[in-house]
Amino acid sequence: MSAAKLTIDPHLLDGILNKTIDTVTESQSQIFEISEHSRQEFQQLHRELELVKQQVIEVIYKADRTEESAKLARTRLAEVSKHFQKYSESDIRDAYENANKYQIELSIIRQTEKQLREKRDELERRILALNETVQKAESLAGQISVVLNYLNGDLRKINELVQDAKQKQEFGLQIIEAQEEERKRVSREIHDGPAQLMANVLIRSELLEKIYTEKGTDAARAEIKDLRVMVRDSLKEVRRIIYDLRPMALDDLGLVPTLDKYLRNVKERSGKTVELHALGQSRRFPTKMEIAIFRLIQESVSNAVKHSDANLIEVKLEFTQKFISLYIRDDGKGFDMSKPAKSNSFGMMGMRERVELLEGTLKVKSRLNYGTSVYIQIPIQD
Ligand SMILES: Nc1ncnc2c1ncn2[C@@H]1O[C@H](COP(=O)(O)OP(=O)(O)OP(=O)(O)O)[C@@H](O)[C@H]1O
Ligand SMILES: [Mg+2]
Repeated sequence: MSAAKLTIDPHLLDGILNKTIDTVTESQSQIFEISEHSRQEFQQLHRELELVKQQVIEVIYKADRTEESAKLARTRLAEVSKHFQKYSESDIRDAYENANKYQIELSIIRQTEKQLREKRDELERRILALNETVQKAESLAGQISVVLNYLNGDLRKINELVQDAKQKQEFGLQIIEAQEEERKRVSREIHDGPAQLMANVLIRSELLEKIYTEKGTDAARAEIKDLRVMVRDSLKEVRRIIYDLRPMALDDLGLVPTLDKYLRNVKERSGKTVELHALGQSRRFPTKMEIAIFRLIQESVSNAVKHSDANLIEVKLEFTQKFISLYIRDDGKGFDMSKPAKSNSFGMMGMRERVELLEGTLKVKSRLNYGTSVYIQIPIQD
């Protein structure tokens, strides 16, 4: 992973996402507004069109009727003109004016009809264009909904993934720190224990030479005895350190005998009562799982030794068909679990991580002055 990728800040991403969502939501409501406006105008134009259509029909009827009257007036005028001797002057003038009046009326009606038809065509054109706008706005609103769904769903998930990755990265760094801490502890142990003893052995063996030449064989023999005790202690110490690093017996003997050996050792070193109860049929499990279980018990027991001032430390292991259950209890002083652990405390955190990897569950109960119990259940995968 590149350094640039490591610096992604999920909060920043969240901020950008929220702003984008706000902007898109705003656009969506504007599009809804446009769509609503267009729809209202569309309905208004429709009403107008209906009215104009009605007017066109009426004007056509009116034109027909006027045409009829004009025709009669023309016939009358033709009749009067033909036999003008038979008619009075006023009759002739009336017939002429009548024919003229209907002719003018008809031309006005034709003009109105033309205008109405033009208006109708124009309205139909506008309605068509508006309909297109309404449809486009609706499809745009639909697309924006899809975008919003992505922004609220899938993209948020990506943000969660980034956040998750960041947490994992932080946890990784803590593990590295814990490993460094562990190395420091081991080197300190070797330095204070076996290395110190070896240095002493070296000095004493040089002294032995001097004693032999100056004081004789007996004195030298006593010194050799002391030296032997020192080397034996040193060897014991080296073995313990090696054992703490990696209980080799686990591979050869399996879980319960290794735990038994380990707990006897703890009992001897701490002077506390340490009990092991194994229930059910123990069998071999994948190495990774056996090591994890051993480490979980080791951490819980060493916490009890280090922090609890307990008299009794009890370890129960139960094997069933589907689960391995671990129960580690002490009768010590307990601790306040609501208080955050010290910054250099990694034991419990590591336990939780191990249990999570094994898809199990871990519960810790502690009450001041009543001791602490750790309950772990791990599913057995076939
Ligand atoms: N059995 C217990 N009795 C009393 N206090 C406990 C017990 N187990 C844990 N604690 C308290 O919880 C703290 C956190 O334990 P944890 O194992 O995480 O860290 P640690 O033992 O202090 O350091 P590390 O395990 O990294 O060497 C301890 O410092 C101690 O105060
Ligand atoms: Mg611890």
